[in-house]
Amino acid sequence: MHRETVLTSADLIWPLFVIEGKGAEEPIGSLPGVSRWSVDGIVARAKEAVEMGIPCIALFPNTPDGKRSDAGAEAYNPDNLMCRTIRAVRDAVGNDLGILTDVALDPYTTHGQDGLVDASGYVVNDDTVAVLVDQAVAQADAGADIVAPSDMMDGRVHAIRMALEMNGHPNVQIMAYSAKFASAFYGPFRDAVGSGDRLKGDKKSYQMDPANGEEAMREIALDIAEGADSVMVKPGLAYLDIIAQAKARFDVPVFAYQVSGEYALIEAGVAAGVGEREPLLMEKLVAFKRAGCTGVLTYHAPFAARLLNG
Ligand code: PBG
Repeated sequence: MHRETVLTSADLIWPLFVIEGKGAEEPIGSLPGVSRWSVDGIVARAKEAVEMGIPCIALFPNTPDGKRSDAGAEAYNPDNLMCRTIRAVRDAVGNDLGILTDVALDPYTTHGQDGLVDASGYVVNDDTVAVLVDQAVAQADAGADIVAPSDMMDGRVHAIRMALEMNGHPNVQIMAYSAKFASAFYGPFRDAVGSGDRLKGDKKSYQMDPANGEEAMREIALDIAEGADSVMVKPGLAYLDIIAQAKARFDVPVFAYQVSGEYALIEAGVAAGVGEREPLLMEKLVAFKRAGCTGVLTYHAPFAARLLNG
């Protein structure tokens, strides 16, 4: 009767990894219980999402090796794996499910960085933004509802918004990964998209210092001023204070990404006998909502939705 916070399946966004092929499923070793699926498998998951009342899926491609390049040009190929997946999901489920797409170059580059690198390996902001714009427009052309730049370049939200307007996509939203920290919790994701082994060094020149909360507010304010419809804090649990501050200061929806390492730690805890999956997970998911989140991206989305739906 006195409960303040209610979690439902409508609060969940389900991230999915797509591979080439047909009828293909590849379990991801560092994410037990999560697989990469070929397009037909993603379509099947999308139908499940609709049945479970999950309003949106988030797509990430594992690009075949031969299509990765230093410049990541496959990112804006209108027939790349991502765009073909978007079209197939849209064909299958119509407008019953939101399709959120990742804008960043790491699944497409040979070096695993989210942007273009100069001779010294430094990720160059403005040249990268130009490529991200083409990538976002290609995804919108294919039918994405929400493009979500996860690259952390400065100025990309404005550039993407202008390009969407000029290319006939005034209704495509931008969910900005605004407060994205240079985190140790992304390891299994990098395995999933195949960028982990390629990555030399780190992403600290563009992702945030975990020690900085005020800078996170500046990043969020900039992205909103540039045209973001919603913002994201990532990872989730270690940054609940950032979520709460963002919710208090700004008037846009705030989302959290419970990232791959967070998922893997819950599964490792379950395997180690720390506790049962259900209570360990639900306590964390409700914490995101209590902190102020409108919704949560989580690999546990189907498990949580089934529980919440009884
Ligand atoms: C990169 C990207 C990352 C994640 C989403 N997009 C990893 C990174 O920045 O290296 C991480 C998500 C997760 O760990 O679940 N564009």
